[in-house]
Amino acid sequence: MPRACLAVPPWAAMIAVVAVGCAGSAVETPTARSAQAAWSGTSAVSSSGSSVSRAIPEARGDITTLADGRTVAVRYPGWTTEDFGRFRTYAYGDTRPEVPISRVPMPVGTGDSKRGRALFLDRRLGPCTGCHLVQGEDVWPAGNVGPDLSIYGDRHLPREYTFDLVYDPRHVFPHTVMPPWGAAGVLSPADVVDVVAFLDTQRGPVPAEKDVERDPKTRGKPTGFGDNLDPTNNPAVLRAESADDRWATKGPAGKACADCHAGGVLAAMKGVATRYPQHVVKYGRVMSIEDFLAVHGPETTGISLAEESADNLDLTVRIKMASNGMPVNLDLGKPENAAALARGKSSFNRKVGQRDHACADCHTADGGRGAGKFLGGRLLVDVTSGMTRHFPTWRTSVGDVWDMRKRLQWCMTPLGTNMLAADAVEYAELEMYLTSFDQGQPLSVPGIRH
Ligand code: HEC
Ligand code: HEC
Ligand code: HEC
Repeated sequence: MPRACLAVPPWAAMIAVVAVGCAGSAVETPTARSAQAAWSGTSAVSSSGSSVSRAIPEARGDITTLADGRTVAVRYPGWTTEDFGRFRTYAYGDTRPEVPISRVPMPVGTGDSKRGRALFLDRRLGPCTGCHLVQGEDVWPAGNVGPDLSIYGDRHLPREYTFDLVYDPRHVFPHTVMPPWGAAGVLSPADVVDVVAFLDTQRGPVPAEKDVERDPKTRGKPTGFGDNLDPTNNPAVLRAESADDRWATKGPAGKACADCHAGGVLAAMKGVATRYPQHVVKYGRVMSIEDFLAVHGPETTGISLAEESADNLDLTVRIKMASNGMPVNLDLGKPENAAALARGKSSFNRKVGQRDHACADCHTADGGRGAGKFLGGRLLVDVTSGMTRHFPTWRTSVGDVWDMRKRLQWCMTPLGTNMLAADAVEYAELEMYLTSFDQGQPLSVPGIRH
């Protein structure tokens, strides 16, 4: 089990210290990486802060300190660089609690409903419309993870009640998926007063709906993207085929993949991907194909196959294509795998970050959670239907291949959680848990998604 080695600042005195060294090293700096795998095989489970990652620099979750003392996160181009180090992450060594529940007195004043509406729709904040419909043709795209608030004002609820609820909904709904906006510092008490004033303006009768797409209740469900294995339809297929050259080319160590694995990728790697992620004895940890290649590639051929590099992704897709149509076949009876699966499950249910979200909030359906509903314009997939067997996948919205790790990093970063390194064992075990829902289902790689 992970060692509790993190020096945890008490919440009240919380400062931007999250990533601290462990793994037997005494070096603890606020700018160290969050969680990295201990690759050397000395530790079965990564401890937070070991400085070895085999990912490309922007995928390592590094935090750097600027000349003026501010800390910023190193992430993929276009991603926020904000350091969310005050909030808990997925690192096993991060034993801090989730955002504590809190209440403040409501400031005096009636609030500015116009400003409240702007806050309600502000994409940089929630937006509240990601989960709640309100009136107005400009409200797009609204989701329905939470109730429709179009006539909330007609309920004449006390303003203090709504204030408390928006400041920290856990007073009223202990297991809610709604973030604690005030308690987490996203909205100030004065902001919440404005939002309360806006909600009071939401009164019936509601104007007749002109656009079925506006209301998530009547909006159509998205359709698929056609045959994901057709190279004329999925650019990731062609890209992966280019990996055949890499496979046959000798690296600086004088060997090519093909020298040890005879018969071409599709023949040599048939069925291999169905067993991953799995615990690999040699490296003492759970690994996906991507994780394995990042170590095995340089060891055997001398070439770098850094995690999240195009070479790693394309070879991974190609290797997985060799198992297309074959059922996912994790060896969950193996004790190391079973233990990792349990840790992955607990990560899936762990509330992290400023928004205090768990994966389960959006990808399970029970208890009023999000799966099957719209978050903004996006229909949330249920983990039990299997979310992994088409990964890595082509993403039409970004025109690139994304593997599961980048997806995991992406789901939580905008919600105020510092990402871990793409090859962190925490992600590997979370991925194994997700993959267990695909057990017995055929692989179909590369997928195509929005
Ligand atoms: C991730 C989804 C999500 C977001 C984002 C969200 N909410 Fe909610 N909200 C919910 C859910 C779900 C409920 C219903 C309570 C429950 O069952 O947990 C709720 C309930 C409410 C209620 C009470 C509704 C009722 O019928 O009693 C109000 C008011 C509210 N939210 C306001 C807001 C405001 C204001 C924001 C933005 C600052 C916001 N919500 C953002 C999910 C969300
Ligand atoms: C020097 C010989 C050698 C070279 C070169 C080599 N491999 Fe391997 N590979 C092995 C051996 C031996 C194993 C099984 C033992 C192990 O896990 O190390 C293996 C295992 C694998 C596995 C896991 C198979 C499984 O059943 O779990 C994959 C995937 C793989 N290699 C891919 C590659 C790729 C891609 C390259 C080129 C970048 C490559 N190998 C280069 C010898 C080699
Ligand atoms: C606030 C909501 C939210 C949270 C929390 C969240 N996700 Fe997502 N996730 C989304 C949205 C939106 C999408 C894109 C639509 C979809 O495919 O569901 C998505 C997509 C995914 C996909 C791709 C599904 C596919 O079929 O291609 C995976 C895998 C995934 N999420 C895993 C996770 C994991 C694991 C966590 C926790 C680390 C997590 N998500 C947390 C909203 C969320």
